[in-house]
Amino acid sequence: MTKLHILSNRLPFSVKKNDEKIELIPSVGGLATGMKSVYGQFEGSWIGWPGVELDTCTTEQLLEMNAMLKEEKCIPVHLTHNETLHYYEGFCNKTIWPLFHYFTQYAEYDAADWESYVNVNRKFADAALSIIGDDDYIWIHDYHLLLVPQMIKETKPSVTIGFFLHIPFPSFEVFRLLPWRMEILNGLLGADLIGFHTFDYERHFFSCVRRLIGYDITLNHINAPDRLILVDAFPMGIDYMKFHESSRHLDKQSENEKSDFTKQLEDFILQSPDRKLILSIDRMDYTKGIPHRLKAFANFLQNYPEYRQKVTLIMLAVPSRDEVEHYQLLKKEVDELVGKINGMFGDINYTPIWYFYRSMPYQNLVELYHACDVALITPVRDGMNLVAKEYVAARTGIDGCIILSEMAGAAKELGEAILVNPNNDNEIAEAIRQAISMPADEQQERMERLQDRIKRYDVFKWAAEFVNSMHKVQHLQSEYNTR
Ligand code: ADP
Ligand code: F6P
Repeated sequence: MTKLHILSNRLPFSVKKNDEKIELIPSVGGLATGMKSVYGQFEGSWIGWPGVELDTCTTEQLLEMNAMLKEEKCIPVHLTHNETLHYYEGFCNKTIWPLFHYFTQYAEYDAADWESYVNVNRKFADAALSIIGDDDYIWIHDYHLLLVPQMIKETKPSVTIGFFLHIPFPSFEVFRLLPWRMEILNGLLGADLIGFHTFDYERHFFSCVRRLIGYDITLNHINAPDRLILVDAFPMGIDYMKFHESSRHLDKQSENEKSDFTKQLEDFILQSPDRKLILSIDRMDYTKGIPHRLKAFANFLQNYPEYRQKVTLIMLAVPSRDEVEHYQLLKKEVDELVGKINGMFGDINYTPIWYFYRSMPYQNLVELYHACDVALITPVRDGMNLVAKEYVAARTGIDGCIILSEMAGAAKELGEAILVNPNNDNEIAEAIRQAISMPADEQQERMERLQDRIKRYDVFKWAAEFVNSMHKVQHLQSEYNTR
């Protein structure tokens, strides 16, 4: 029977070691949360890294975590300390991540990191090759595994390979800076189907293939010498009904059923009826524009003193890649800015920013989406941004406003949000004022349209379209080969 396997750097569950005990916790990030929703539909395994270093585990712990992961249909690819250092923290997060997000000044080009990236990609390819049948499908995810398509195609050409990039694909002028640009492009071109979040990323990719490799491109087909490769835009959706229903459940709860978290939020709102809550949720990442956002909020309080005491920013930042220097510097900058703004505008009764540096359980996220009047999402660069879509899905009162960066892939679909340039603090400050004073009927009108769209193209539709295109590419390829 034909199977569809998933291959990604991170598994949907990460292993946490509490003293000697092993625990599986849900992984954070768009890839893990999105794919976890659809994974159950596929016959096949999910192959990936469980998030701990091999050298730090005892044999018993390894056996235990492998067994726990097996129950979740996950196959671990274990990485050593040296591999996480050079492959994950190094090439993935000090080279590709900053470069593809246009942080060219942060990108490091280190030969040892590249070597490790090649070796670890080989390790993932071998893990996949050891379980996939000749006619199976494999869906490879994200920038950690750009070389794997070619590695698998060379060994098992009959396998249908899909690749989806969860981050932006940069313009040619940025991509060409990469010393290993040819290897990366050739690696990707081992896939039969290549998907991006937006048409712009697809366009940039085509431009790189044309100019660096010289392949001919017709519409969205790359005419490679040995086969046709299909490229398309698949804007990733969310599990709309899950967020919406969880939020509706909150509407119906009796006083006794409410969580402490909800009660505390409600008490806080009740203290002052014209109080407004603004929500900001991200991984702590320099691409998310957190310092600019904080400065914009300070500008807002400065420019509109009548809103002091009445508007609170709830800022959630989940720790991410904290071994990488730029992430450590960002954390320090954010801590200082929050302290400065709270010191400047706060008093005994008013804390302008509530700042949480931790992951939150799903239920608390929904409670926050449900309670907050405005979502402030201003990444300087973001492949998609699922948080924006989650906020839309969780607005059961059909009100609420989103302020969204033009630089997020989601901006292409969420035209009814207040779109801002994330580098323009004054524009964001003005957008905050516009959002909190927007008439209810305008909020509803915008929110209804947003909800219709996000509901229609949810994560299940997204996955189904990607998988259908994997079927389609097989037909296109056989026509192409008989020409
Ligand atoms: P990225 O993939 O860059 O992290 P996305 O916005 O696309 O950005 O996806 C982030 C995902 O992680 C969302 O599904 C969101 O619900 C989840 N998430 C973000 N912050 C937190 C947090 N503090 N606690 C728990 N989950 C979070
Ligand atoms: O969605 C983008 C993404 O880079 C995923 O590929 C990644 O898993 C996630 O963000 C979180 O990052 P990390 O896996 O490095 O913790």
